[in-house]
Amino acid sequence: MAIVECFERIPCDPCAAACKQGAIRPFADICDLPRIDHELCNGCALCVVRCPGLAIFVVDASAGDGSAVVKMPYEHTPLPRAGQTVRATDRSGRDVCAGTVTRAQRPSAFDHTALVSIRVPVEHAMDVRGLLLPPGAGLGAGAKEGAQEGAEGGAGAGGKADARAGLGAGVGPVVVCRCEEITEDDIVAAYEAGYRTPEEIKRKLRCGMGPCQGRTCMPVVLSILSRLSGRPVGDMAPPTGRPPLKPTPLASFAALKYGPARPSSVEEDGR
Ligand code: SF4
Ligand code: SF4
Ligand code: FES
Repeated sequence: MAIVECFERIPCDPCAAACKQGAIRPFADICDLPRIDHELCNGCALCVVRCPGLAIFVVDASAGDGSAVVKMPYEHTPLPRAGQTVRATDRSGRDVCAGTVTRAQRPSAFDHTALVSIRVPVEHAMDVRGLLLPPGAGLGAGAKEGAQEGAEGGAGAGGKADARAGLGAGVGPVVVCRCEEITEDDIVAAYEAGYRTPEEIKRKLRCGMGPCQGRTCMPVVLSILSRLSGRPVGDMAPPTGRPPLKPTPLASFAALKYGPARPSSVEEDGR
């Protein structure tokens, strides 16, 4: 069944149009939150690949063997391989459990959006919302796979330069930070130039400093750095957040109650 984790009333409705079963009720207003009729949902995942917010997943626990398959959108390269063991993560990138890839597809019917299915213990199915390839997979065998996958893009094989090509091979520039238009290649280049932490990457490239304050891109940045460095995402400190953390109407600030104005540090010093 489809699990929708869409909590913000934004003008967005492709999920409703995607569902051929009528399981996602028609929106009365484009800012409506999707409501699912689970009786009608057949788990086809068409809504998963159409959702620009990566807010829909399909959880299939029908095997009854203590496992469940979680189908999720996947915006990285290389694509995992069926049978590959991965680390399943929650929405914030924290490690949850091991998972096994059962299917990875990027068909033209999905407008080349990748859908990856992983099998995990059923008790973790409602937590698992992402995956990490084994450390180095993007730089070694995975890069080779990426190069194969992108053969029409002319990617080579072997060596550091090709490892870099393997991350985005064949799919063109992979935009990671939409607010600041930073691509995966930009991040890899910065990493190779010595900017290794999320804070350094943020200061060098500005990803995480756009209107969404990194809510969209930072989990992806962490996962790229994890793949490049082999360090678990949970070991990396996210960059310092600066308020406001989301676009906030001016009226919200106007409504705040302030005490008497405090002197600035310059005034206190008498300078
Ligand atoms: S998984 Fe398929 S049937 Fe279920 S809500 Fe999404 S599009 Fe509709
Ligand atoms: S397409 Fe995704 S982000 Fe847009 S309303 Fe549907 S679930 Fe929410
Ligand atoms: S997507 Fe990077 S700051 Fe918004």
